[in-house]
Amino acid sequence: MADIIYVLNGPNLNLLGMREPEIYGSDTLDDIAGLLEDRARELDLAIDMRQSNHEGHLVDWMHEAQARGAKAVLLNAGAYTHTSLALHDCIKSIRTPVIEVHLSNPHAREGFRRSSHVGRAAKGTIAGFGALSYLLALEAAARL
Ligand code: DQA
Repeated sequence: MADIIYVLNGPNLNLLGMREPEIYGSDTLDDIAGLLEDRARELDLAIDMRQSNHEGHLVDWMHEAQARGAKAVLLNAGAYTHTSLALHDCIKSIRTPVIEVHLSNPHAREGFRRSSHVGRAAKGTIAGFGALSYLLALEAAARL
């Protein structure tokens, strides 16, 4: 059976496509899911992609990823990246590798985006390439 990659998306990412397109691009989350599924098929991986505006859902889904033996989690935690000790502790608590993903490059934006609780616990970070960030993270996950 194909290894599973969880792709977890946090708050406001359900609005991709119409949310500040000059920063986040015009792809919707469904468009990104389609790109990931096409590439995952070639890599013999399965994608389980979800979005929630609630922090605890992201924690529960990372626990679930570990329980299901997922190969990796790609996590775009949105603004929780910069605020959530619960996500930091969760990533530290599970053995499943977590790759931090961002469409934009938070380091090139407002000061409050330069600190990442997720990044301090994650295996690595890919940011700044729009929808391609997700595909690059999938390539990295495939090689872990
Ligand atoms: C984001 C960057 C975060 O700073 C922001 O809060 C988001 C999106 C990104 O993908 O570029 O919601 O995670």
